[in-house]
Amino acid sequence: MAQSTGYSKIRTAVFISGTGSNFKSLIKFSKTYKSPISIKLVVSNNSKAKGLDYAKINKIKKKILNFKNKSQSEKKLLSILKFNKIEIICLAGFMKILSKGFIKKFNGKILNIHPSLLPKYKGLNTHERVLKNKEKYSGCTVHFVNSRLDSGKIILQKKVKISKNDTKASLAKKILIQEHKLYPKAILKVSNL
Ligand code: GRF
Repeated sequence: MAQSTGYSKIRTAVFISGTGSNFKSLIKFSKTYKSPISIKLVVSNNSKAKGLDYAKINKIKKKILNFKNKSQSEKKLLSILKFNKIEIICLAGFMKILSKGFIKKFNGKILNIHPSLLPKYKGLNTHERVLKNKEKYSGCTVHFVNSRLDSGKIILQKKVKISKNDTKASLAKKILIQEHKLYPKAILKVSNL
């Protein structure tokens, strides 16, 4: 992955679609001394994403691309990323699937966070499926993005114990707290490779 030097931090873009709590935690991390990244851009397919408020508060440039025409949006996005000299992309609750061509252009430089212990429970509605299967543990995973959904090389995982009373919402909340810690740790891990 791109290396940060003593002088310059890795120019990072975060892609979001909704609440943006991981985006918020990455901003906080990026402002710490030990952070190898500096967030230069946030991209959303949803102009109403609540997470965009954090861009405003923190004066981070934002770009909205609706992805209705994926190839057109991606083409535009690639030029925006190039213009802003973006070196890595952190997907954080981004609900669009990037094309193989796009991923190839950023090969090994796109990270994602997923709310399950991959390779189990790829895709959507993870907590619901985990509870239905009466799993004892779930968790979250940060991984590199490849062309298959939630299937790239795993960087770090955190296990979370499921209690008898857990609901979809309570489990999501417990896991999200761990996600906020895991994503920065995963970034530190790959930036030192
Ligand atoms: C997180 O659970 C993340 O793992 C998943 O989508 C959710 C996004 O939450 N990919 P937020 O927008 O970061 O609050």
